Amino acid sequence: MSKTAAIKKKLPIELSDVKKSDLVAQVQQLHKSLNYHSHRYYVLDDPEIPDVEYDKLFRQLESLEAQYPELISLDSPTQRVGGKVLENFQQVLHEMPMLSLSNAFSSDEIEDFSKRIGERLEHDDFELFAEPKLDGLAISLRYEKGILVQAATRGDGQTGEDVTSNVRTIKTIPLRLSGNDFPKILEVRGEIFMPKKGFEQLNQTQINNDEKTFANPRNAAAGSLRQLDSKIAASRPLDMFCYGIGIVEDENENHPIESTHSLILQQLKYWGLPICPEVKIVNNWQECIAYYDSILLKRSELPYEIDGVVYKVNSIAQQQIVGFISRAPRWAIAHKFPAEEAMTRLLNIDVQVGRTGALTPVGRLEPVFVGGVTVTNATLHNQSEIDRKGVRIGDMVIVRRAGDVIPEIVKPVLSKRPDKTQVFNMPEHCPICGSLAERINDEAKSRCTGGLYCPAQRKEAIKHFASRKAMDIDGLGDKLVEQMVDAEMIHDISDLFSLSAEQISNMERMGEKSADNLIKSIEASKSTTLPRFIYALGIREVGEATALALANHYQLLSKIQTAKAEDLQNVPDVGPIVAHNIETFFSQEHNDEVIKKLLSSSIHWPEILKKEKDELPLADRVIVLTGSLSEMTRNDAKARLIELGAKVSGSVSKKTDLVIAGDKAGSKLKKAEELDIEVMDEAGMLLLFKKYEL
Ligand code: IVH
Repeated sequence: MSKTAAIKKKLPIELSDVKKSDLVAQVQQLHKSLNYHSHRYYVLDDPEIPDVEYDKLFRQLESLEAQYPELISLDSPTQRVGGKVLENFQQVLHEMPMLSLSNAFSSDEIEDFSKRIGERLEHDDFELFAEPKLDGLAISLRYEKGILVQAATRGDGQTGEDVTSNVRTIKTIPLRLSGNDFPKILEVRGEIFMPKKGFEQLNQTQINNDEKTFANPRNAAAGSLRQLDSKIAASRPLDMFCYGIGIVEDENENHPIESTHSLILQQLKYWGLPICPEVKIVNNWQECIAYYDSILLKRSELPYEIDGVVYKVNSIAQQQIVGFISRAPRWAIAHKFPAEEAMTRLLNIDVQVGRTGALTPVGRLEPVFVGGVTVTNATLHNQSEIDRKGVRIGDMVIVRRAGDVIPEIVKPVLSKRPDKTQVFNMPEHCPICGSLAERINDEAKSRCTGGLYCPAQRKEAIKHFASRKAMDIDGLGDKLVEQMVDAEMIHDISDLFSLSAEQISNMERMGEKSADNLIKSIEASKSTTLPRFIYALGIREVGEATALALANHYQLLSKIQTAKAEDLQNVPDVGPIVAHNIETFFSQEHNDEVIKKLLSSSIHWPEILKKEKDELPLADRVIVLTGSLSEMTRNDAKARLIELGAKVSGSVSKKTDLVIAGDKAGSKLKKAEELDIEVMDEAGMLLLFKKYEL
């Protein structure tokens, strides 16, 4: 029995008992407020009222509808969740077929695409519209008199499935269009997808409930949309972006729909439909390529998966001239990104030892081209991950490389499993020094207990110490460090400062000149800053920002060395785990000795003069950093801003005082402009740093 029917049975109150028109007006007002606040929350990401207030309004409506079921309408906000469990999906015939797109993989093909359009139009005067190619499922929404009456999947393009009850649960899709100038019948076409964050949370829930995980957000979206029980779909974080229209009908035959694709999308947005913010008008194929490059660069930061971009002729009249080839328009093309997943064989699993002793299983692969590069190694994270995925040495595996992240092995292809495979188990001893490997406090990773006795950890610790953001020893590359440790020229970081030019010049591929240069850089690195020195020590989970915060808080190394975990937690960004790591680090006798040796080799830094927090030049200013910087990393910039007293936040809101926008800044910059918040570019930021140099 449906929820509505049950309510009807339980509460047979006659509507004629009360003043009907008042109730109808009250219900309509509640619809309006709830729709308004839901749009602000889900679409604009800018809620105006707290959640409890929204819930209050929602409950008022629920209670009215429970008393007077006659007042429940199809577009009521209460009708999004739940509903009866379907036995199967009804078929829906698309009056206007849902088309597919031709694919292109290179700039040459885009140039050809543009040439073909020019030839058909007999001139080159046309704009194109560029959009991300969303990696989800195509959907057609049918609005009658502004009310969502049907949602159908693409199916084979001619016939799809009726998934209305599931689509109704997607909060960003309006059940009723805003405004009143919409056509009597409007079909909106777009893509339903699962945002990356929601996908990760869903898989975590599936793991916690011992249920099957989804391979990627697209599969998760498809699985969610095909749930016969819409309560399950309602619990899944689905979203949608609209990218076109289908049937449009009005009383006076054809509704005057807009003349360009960009205006159509603007119109849809005005009616309350979600549109992707990354879209752009471009003027020629070269601008298409620039758009492709910029979106590819942003791809890993976008909160949803895309697998390319789409270019469409912007003018509807020109689209009609250019026409179609079988199932795809000639006026549009998908410019696909290089595949991020590929299949290859897992040849072996080696164990790497990191700077902090963490043992990481690394898959050695038969070389495979994925995400635009040849991949031969991929991480398997830890033993639990290997067990969960059921990967064995010798398996054919799916390798994924997304953006700049380390390639990972997603899963084995069981149908291709060879007869002889080998189950992998993490060794109980460090493969480098033979010390016991243990898993502390339920951590996923095992760690070598050898500390700085373990050459692998020593090598990593020395590489970190010499790195650019730490002591910045120019010319001391990773290979050189490895050779020096292997040759027992250095045992710990302090030995670097007693190396002689002669010792260095005796090494492989090191002449006198490069040995001299290295000695000079080692000498130059002695003049440093306290934050750099603390960062260089390589304390677990103490990055640049924490090192800076520690230096500012205590000003003196000796104070940090003797601080107790409890006191350390008074430093901004230092929680109990980091505080414990710091205290433990400085309580180790061998670390103390190394620090003494370093200081006696005359490493020095300028004194830090304590300023009260509210005396700092950017005290309590809320600053957001966005886009890419060319002169320094975002992390460094963040650290400097915190040093100057600012609070660095990840999202723009009314509380933001300043947005620092680097190159290719996107939605955060847009939001700052909308909210009229001060914006500064990278050059401005550098001037600011110069002005307040410590
Ligand atoms: S337009 C007439 N725009 O790609 C053209 N499609 O390969 C119809 N897709 O079935 C599609 N993002 O599911 C268009 N911005 C976008 C898109 C997009 C993803 C999907 C859509 C379609 C498939 C075609």
